[in-house]
Amino acid sequence: MESKEFYHHLPKVELHAHINGSISEETINKLLKRKGREEEISKVKFGKEQTEPLADSFKRLKLMQTLSDCAEDIYIITCDVIKEFAEDNVKYLELRSTPREITATGLSRDLYVEAVLRAIKDTAHLDIIVHFLLSIDRRLGVDVARTTMELAERYRDVSNGVVIGLDFSGDPKVGDARDYLPVFIEAHNRALKLSLHLAEVAAPEETKDILKELGPRIGRIGHGTCLQPECGGNQALVDLVLQHNIPLELCLTSNVKGQTVPNYDQHQFQFWYNRSHPCIIGTDDKGMFDTSLSEEYAIAARTFELDRESVWRLSLSSIDAIFADDDVKQMLRNKWHELKPSLNIT
Ligand code: IMP
Ligand code: ZN
Repeated sequence: MESKEFYHHLPKVELHAHINGSISEETINKLLKRKGREEEISKVKFGKEQTEPLADSFKRLKLMQTLSDCAEDIYIITCDVIKEFAEDNVKYLELRSTPREITATGLSRDLYVEAVLRAIKDTAHLDIIVHFLLSIDRRLGVDVARTTMELAERYRDVSNGVVIGLDFSGDPKVGDARDYLPVFIEAHNRALKLSLHLAEVAAPEETKDILKELGPRIGRIGHGTCLQPECGGNQALVDLVLQHNIPLELCLTSNVKGQTVPNYDQHQFQFWYNRSHPCIIGTDDKGMFDTSLSEEYAIAARTFELDRESVWRLSLSSIDAIFADDDVKQMLRNKWHELKPSLNIT
């Protein structure tokens, strides 16, 4: 089987996908056309080899958010993003997004969440299970974070568990994650799962306090780029992550294009994978970074010399870290085993 075909057919789990960063070129063009802004495509999407400082990526993301400013737009982009992941043979997907309020268009946080849930419902015929994490943007402060946590709890209860927890994201250079600790603890007490962007840039004190206070209550860590001593972290941070066995969501192209790691060879994947720590490959913002989950697996395999059996195992082991019940996990593992012969792994 050709390499490209293998990664495409490989059944995959995507756990780190921000809805507004995941919008494909096709959908971006559709939305720009609707808004009469066709010429803006190059401002939104990275070129294939392009990299730029992280701060500039956040400017792009802000622009991308302006593409979806009403409930109908949110519905359209979520449907398209789910279909694209399903076409890439993602069998289980956790989307995350920051519920926004826009007075001018009548968009409220409730309507935002409902539009995402409607899209998940209307794509339920596809061979993909979709769960939803509400994002807390660290630029928006603790009051909004608390509102988002309450929203997540309310919609978890009426969505039959499709809303499953919270993501903590936004520009890592803004604000202090420690201010949000009471919200995280309260969310955990209310049985909401937590995936936190941590150590995306060097912030050893903030990272240490979060890891110490929350420990295994952190369901997964996004990026963890600067945990190791040689990346601006320290051994104590590494030990805490290992001790609590907190899975890491690793997004190679995002980190290289956003210049938080210098190149693929130096990506933290190798460090954690060598320690048999749970590593889950993700896309972060597939539309903006012009990638797909298949491509990310191919890049990881090429860079770190993983054979096809190891790639399949990496994908299979991601199931352990999903925010879903054991029966869903077992159903997915069975599916992986059923599909394995068709991959011709020798
Ligand atoms: P949305 O939440 O669906 O609107 O997706 C865009 C948002 O995701 C951005 O405004 C950020 O808050 C967040 N985001 C996307 N990529 C990253 C990242 O690499 N680090 C931190 N936050 C991110
Ligand atoms: Zn992210």
